[in-house]
Amino acid sequence: MGFATDAIHVGQEPDPATGAIVAPIYQTSTYVQEELGKNKGYDYARTAHPNRRALERTVAKLEGGSAAFVFTSGMAAIDSVFRLLRPGDHAIISEAVYGGVIRLTTQFLVQWGLEFSFVDTSSPESVERAIKPTTKMIYIETPTNPTMRVTDIAAIARIASARNATLVVDNTFLSPYFQSPIALGAHIVVHSMTKYLNGHSDAVGGSVILTRPADAEKIYFLQRSTGAGLAPMDCFLVSRGIKTLAVRMKQHDANGRAVARFLEDHPRVKSVLYPGLPSHPQHDVAVRQQRGFGAMISFDVVTMENARTVLNHLKICSLAESLGGVETLISHPATMTHASVPAEVRQRIGITDGLIRISVGIEDVEDLINDLDQALRKI
Ligand SMILES: Cc1ncc(COP(=O)(O)O)c(C=O)c1O
Repeated sequence: MGFATDAIHVGQEPDPATGAIVAPIYQTSTYVQEELGKNKGYDYARTAHPNRRALERTVAKLEGGSAAFVFTSGMAAIDSVFRLLRPGDHAIISEAVYGGVIRLTTQFLVQWGLEFSFVDTSSPESVERAIKPTTKMIYIETPTNPTMRVTDIAAIARIASARNATLVVDNTFLSPYFQSPIALGAHIVVHSMTKYLNGHSDAVGGSVILTRPADAEKIYFLQRSTGAGLAPMDCFLVSRGIKTLAVRMKQHDANGRAVARFLEDHPRVKSVLYPGLPSHPQHDVAVRQQRGFGAMISFDVVTMENARTVLNHLKICSLAESLGGVETLISHPATMTHASVPAEVRQRIGITDGLIRISVGIEDVEDLINDLDQALRKI
């Protein structure tokens, strides 16, 4: 079946008890047993429930994995993946990764004897150089948040395979509609489902999609042991959102391309980071491995003051954390999403004080362009 058909039907069969086209929200903590040791497949909602199972089947199918687990947030999903490592293991991580991953690894997980190297994974040679005998995982985000650097997934998959390391790809920015990391050689895909998969800015969730039964067994063990599995109502919301993923992503992509072109020509904008523009340093890799460019764009207006002026004068674009919703969200990474990243690291990876990140929504694109134009003219 095609992507849109799978997004609407896989895991979303009509309710067998009533025929309801949309499965009910199983808002229950426990399940009555028919007799001792006999139940209908569920016993306690921390362990599993029908809405979670349904959503897990959908995301596994869309990413081409053999199993998936959904968590209370993207960070809970990512944390479970790092717990596949053992004390003494080393992992290589994209240096311009989402700030929460830098915080989790450098401020917390290092306490348990794990070692992390932050590397520009858009350069396979740099990844190769960072490999140690203890390297067990390579964790990449492509494109990166918010610097939009693109990593060649297949090239890094070859390095990972040669060293027996697990390749993990955060596919949040493009969604499975535009990028299939598993087909390119990744072993594990993670998502903040809070973003495009849900798409309506009304739920927080994460997912881990796996290809190897041994990894799946460990992640499921963790999910039911720690209790970070996604609750029924949130699973329902994300499942509903995924049904329109294909049409939303097409519109996000069209609007993203138009806004990127507009910003690139604007006299108040110093530079634009968008893999769809030929000026982007990894444009050729993006063309090769992506089926679209999406709607995440970062642009530089040189100073914090200029950024403040633009952000304070927007009328349609909303100043907010997060991304991937139908509405356009705009943010200032240095003081918002990446505020927990030390200033010298921000400078090194290109998160300047004048950098603004926009998650282009699916409103009428002329309205978005007019809004950005009037705010930029206030500089
Ligand atoms: C690329 C990326 N990965 C992971 C996360 C973390 O997801 P969550 O906020 O759902 O925990 C985010 C959040 O912004 C993100 O942008």
